Amino acid sequence: MMELISIRDFESAAREKLSAMAYDYYRGGSFDEITLAENDAAYDRLRLYHRVLRDVSERDLSTDVLGSRISMPVLVAPTAFHQLAHPDGELATARATVAAGTIMTLSTLSNCSIEEVAAIGGPLWFQLYVYRDREATRGLVERAEAAGCTAIVLTVDAQVWPTRERDVRNRFHLPSGLQMANLMPSGLDEIHRSDSDSGLAHYVVSLFDPTLDWSDLAWLANISTLPVVIKGIVHPDDARLAVEHGAAGIIVSNHGGRQLDTSVATIEALPAVAEAVDGRLPILVDGGVRRGTDILKALALGAKAVLVGRPILWGLATNGQEGVGQVLEILRKELDVALGLCGCRRCDEVDRGLVADV
Ligand code: GLV
Repeated sequence: MMELISIRDFESAAREKLSAMAYDYYRGGSFDEITLAENDAAYDRLRLYHRVLRDVSERDLSTDVLGSRISMPVLVAPTAFHQLAHPDGELATARATVAAGTIMTLSTLSNCSIEEVAAIGGPLWFQLYVYRDREATRGLVERAEAAGCTAIVLTVDAQVWPTRERDVRNRFHLPSGLQMANLMPSGLDEIHRSDSDSGLAHYVVSLFDPTLDWSDLAWLANISTLPVVIKGIVHPDDARLAVEHGAAGIIVSNHGGRQLDTSVATIEALPAVAEAVDGRLPILVDGGVRRGTDILKALALGAKAVLVGRPILWGLATNGQEGVGQVLEILRKELDVALGLCGCRRCDEVDRGLVADV
């Protein structure tokens, strides 16, 4: 077996283990996958002006996000269907995340139920898709709150579903035996068997609510006391609206390049969002984080923390709970090195001046 030193090594190893359908579902983006590639490339284009001759013998990566102390500024992004990667599914991911001292965001589209995953211990955030059936949606939110989740992460970039060409070609579907444990209305067996198109696309188009708008934040606040983090913002005007509508945080995200193709890379969108928010809310960012230096760049440009999605799935597919743990430890170690080589001892010492203007 190849030595697994980097996140990219885990991707190669995972590719060997996964079916082509599962690998493509995780790896793919929409249409030409331009945003998917740009999320990575934009990090690679940024150059660092490291600082020297500061005592960096003691370094501490821990930080606070929405009242939770976490051991490093890296959270687990919501991604769907972890049992496509490993039979232990989201339970393995949650165990590894808790052991690493950070926060997992559980997808609405998980194979294991909210309650099972929450029972592992937390902190756990719940990613919410709003369904046309608002009572069913309310049920999800209530279950998340009752199970002990500490935030709702509202995905706002998926009201229209794009073509993910890999999934269409593969007729993406959930293998029989895998459940959508949180919400699976009857009569939607395309998710298990797709004759044309992607089974997930059928599910989403028939069930998700395309009318969602800013006023729905008040509706959410009405049905739950949990803080709401809005995921899927790249425009500074939307960031301002999120503040005005009472969001507790923002995730700068383009859904890992899986929704609007040619949408701006998230690390390029981050500075203007940070300027618009002006410290009123914590900002997180996801998409393309594969190295410790990527995390440091995100912190420098205004993020409190990053989320990683695909790297977690590569770890899970390669080696279950242990693989997820290994991926998180690689990121921790790389961030620690980046921090030290930039002359910083703590995350809050990372400032804008470390990143060259492009
Ligand atoms: C689900 O949210 C996906 O992006 O496939």
